Amino acid sequence: PGSLLSITQLSLEEVSNILALAERLAGEPQSKHATLLENRKLALLFYESSTRTRTSFELAAKSLGAMTTLVSDKSSSIEKGESLKDTGLTLRALGAECIILRHNASGSPYLLAKHTGLPVLNAGDGMHEHPSQALLDLRTILSRLGKKQAATDTTLDGITVCITGDILHSRVARSNALLLPRLGAKVILCGPQQLLPPEAVDLSTGITLERDFDKALQQSQVAMMLRIQKERLAGMQIDLADYQKQYQLNEDRYFKHAPTAVVMHPGPMIRGLEITADIADGPSSAIEEQVRNGLAIRMALLVRALNGGAA
Ligand code: CP
Repeated sequence: PGSLLSITQLSLEEVSNILALAERLAGEPQSKHATLLENRKLALLFYESSTRTRTSFELAAKSLGAMTTLVSDKSSSIEKGESLKDTGLTLRALGAECIILRHNASGSPYLLAKHTGLPVLNAGDGMHEHPSQALLDLRTILSRLGKKQAATDTTLDGITVCITGDILHSRVARSNALLLPRLGAKVILCGPQQLLPPEAVDLSTGITLERDFDKALQQSQVAMMLRIQKERLAGMQIDLADYQKQYQLNEDRYFKHAPTAVVMHPGPMIRGLEITADIADGPSSAIEEQVRNGLAIRMALLVRALNGGAA
C-alpha cells in the first residue's frame, strides 16, 4: 500500500484524490504542512541521473518535515556490485520507510517493493513508466486548459494531446498514454517510424500513431515534446538534421499549425533540436509550470505513501 509503481494501478478516483491533495498543499502556506511527515525517513535511490524528479521529491519531502537520504549508483556500494534487493534491504534496516527509485531496468520498482515490503515510488524505470510525471503533466494540462483538478472519464473530452519525439524509448509517453485517454483525451504518438512503436502493436482506445508532425499538431490542443534518448538508442542511427526538419517545434510550425496549443516538455530539453528557444520560453510554454507542479504532486504522493493520503 502507498506504492506507485505504474499509473495503471490508480483508479480515476485515486487520481482525483492525488490532484486535490496536491492542489491543497500547493495553495497553503508551507507552515501548514511543515510537520505532516515530521521525522519520517525516505530514501532516494537513483541509478540514473535526474534533476527534476530527484530534486522535487527531495524538496517535497523536506517541506513536509521528512528526513531524506540520497543513494546514487555512482557513489555507493552499488558500484561494488551490490544488488538492488540488498541495497533495498540495507536502506530498510537503516530505517527507511519509503523508497523513491529511478532505475534503468523496466520493472525494477516491482522487485524492490516485493523484497522490501516498503512503499516504493517509481521515479522512472527504464523504458517502462514515469507515473509521477504523468500526474504532474495532468495537473499542468488541467490548469492550462482552465479545468477543475479532477479526473473523471469525461474530464478531457474533446482534447487531443500529441506527444512527439522518441516515443519508443519514452516512459513519459507511456505513462501519459496510459492515463490521458482514461479521462477522455485523444493521444497522438508522433515521430519517425523508427522511434514509434511497430504498426502492429495493439494500441488502446484513444491512441493513434502519426508520422506527420504538422498533421498531428493541427488536431492538438496540447503539444508535448520529447528528447531523443541517446542513452537508449542501442546503435539505432538517427539523422538529426532530418529529424530537426520534420519534428522540431519552432515558431513557424507552431503558428502555422497549432497557434494556441499548450507546449509541454518533461525535460531535459535539447534546445535547437526538438524545440527552439523562442517556443520553449514563449507564452504558450508550460514547461516551468510542469516542474513546479512536480513539487505539489510529489508532496501528495509522499503523504499518500506514508500517511495513507491523510493530510
Ligand atoms: N522529467 C524528468 O524525469 O526529468 P529528470 O530526468 O531531470 O528527473
